[in-house]
Amino acid sequence: MQVLKILARFSQRPLPGLKRVRQIGLAAAIPVGVLAVVILVSGSGESLISQGPIQSGHSDVACAQCHLPAPGSIRQQMQQNVRYLLGASPSHADFGYQPVRSEACLTCHQRPNERHPIYRFREPRFQTAVAEINATTCLGCHGEHRDERVAVEPVFCKSCHAKLVLKIDPLDVPHDELIAAKDWSSCLGCHDFHGNHRTPAPIRRLDAHELDALLAYLKNGSDPYGHEKIYQAVMK
Ligand code: HEC
Ligand code: HEC
Ligand code: HEC
Ligand code: HEC
Ligand code: HEC
Repeated sequence: MQVLKILARFSQRPLPGLKRVRQIGLAAAIPVGVLAVVILVSGSGESLISQGPIQSGHSDVACAQCHLPAPGSIRQQMQQNVRYLLGASPSHADFGYQPVRSEACLTCHQRPNERHPIYRFREPRFQTAVAEINATTCLGCHGEHRDERVAVEPVFCKSCHAKLVLKIDPLDVPHDELIAAKDWSSCLGCHDFHGNHRTPAPIRRLDAHELDALLAYLKNGSDPYGHEKIYQAVMK
């Protein structure tokens, strides 16, 4: 099994893969890459090389909807990589599959009301914040194959909202007090991140969701904000 996982990694991560290619020799490595691609494409191989459990919301999402085939034929990709290895080309080609990108997620998760759209954070003024929390890509906070919804600590709001000032603050414990007390895990207790849940934020600190409930949700537990969402993912 382990061998198959490693073979599969070959087709996924071209750069480290190619470094290894240099080590173990071109002749051996290219058939290995082809084998990995064949396994990934053939349905029967899926469970063999899957890295870990897919999160529950994705049980109906096919591998190929996140793992898009690399451009060009296998033959062209191999030729390009051989040229790269021989120093005749400055760049390598993705082999078999592209790395997973936010664009794949957005084919199903595009939302017009997004509170924190990833493209905004590519602006230079977010550079420092993004060094702490990479909000420019879905994979900065979400992974897959780990059976969890969100892979970041629930205090990451501090990277961008440390200077938050509200003109009129409706809270019994106002935002500036929460921030002065570094009560950063309270934020997700009242606000979801994407703004996709219908339930409005409460105004009493005591009504914020407890940290335990939040951590369970970020892992794979039930949704404390309730199940009424503005947008459901669209299966494309
Ligand atoms: C919802 C999207 C999604 C689905 C569905 C999905 N994957 Fe993945 N997969 C990912 C992400 C994200 C990574 C992490 C690698 C990365 O950062 O590009 C990954 C990593 C992998 C890796 C390891 C590659 C590496 O570079 O470490 C393999 C192999 C893999 N997936 C196979 C599968 C197979 C087989 C299926 C179907 C059973 C599947 N995946 C379904 C998103 C997905
Ligand atoms: C083929 C469509 C499709 C693709 C591609 C896809 N998703 Fe999903 N995703 C869904 C569906 C369907 C659900 C469950 C319904 C919902 O939550 O709207 C879901 C749910 C989720 C959830 C919530 C899980 C839950 O159970 O509450 C997260 C987080 C998520 N997706 C992130 C991602 C990320 C990150 C990517 C890209 C790596 C991605 N999705 C790619 C269709 C997709
Ligand atoms: C800076 C961190 C961060 C980034 C970047 C991020 N997310 Fe999330 N995401 C979260 C957190 C935290 C939650 C849990 C709170 C919530 O439900 O809003 C979440 C929840 C979700 C959910 C389930 C709740 C819902 O809104 O339906 C989906 C689906 C989702 N994210 C998809 C995505 C996709 C797709 C991208 C990229 C376009 C993305 N996320 C980028 C942090 C992030
Ligand atoms: C990478 C930077 C970044 C991070 C991290 C971040 N935010 Fe934001 N947030 C923003 C920006 C930018 C806005 C828009 C402010 C504006 O338009 O004036 C915003 C807006 C908001 C809004 C107001 C939305 C509206 O519709 O008016 C809320 C609520 C919010 N964020 C909560 C959070 C919470 C809770 C977290 C942590 C879970 C968080 N944010 C993390 C940058 C960020
Ligand atoms: C007790 C619940 C609660 C907590 C805790 C809380 N908020 Fe709020 N927040 C609200 C309510 C209610 C509003 C006003 C209505 C709205 O925007 O939903 C608000 C408004 C906001 C806004 C919009 C400000 C504007 O100018 O319109 C941002 C941004 C925000 N909160 C971020 C945060 C951050 C960051 C934290 C953590 C330090 C946090 N909130 C903690 C309930 C809460």
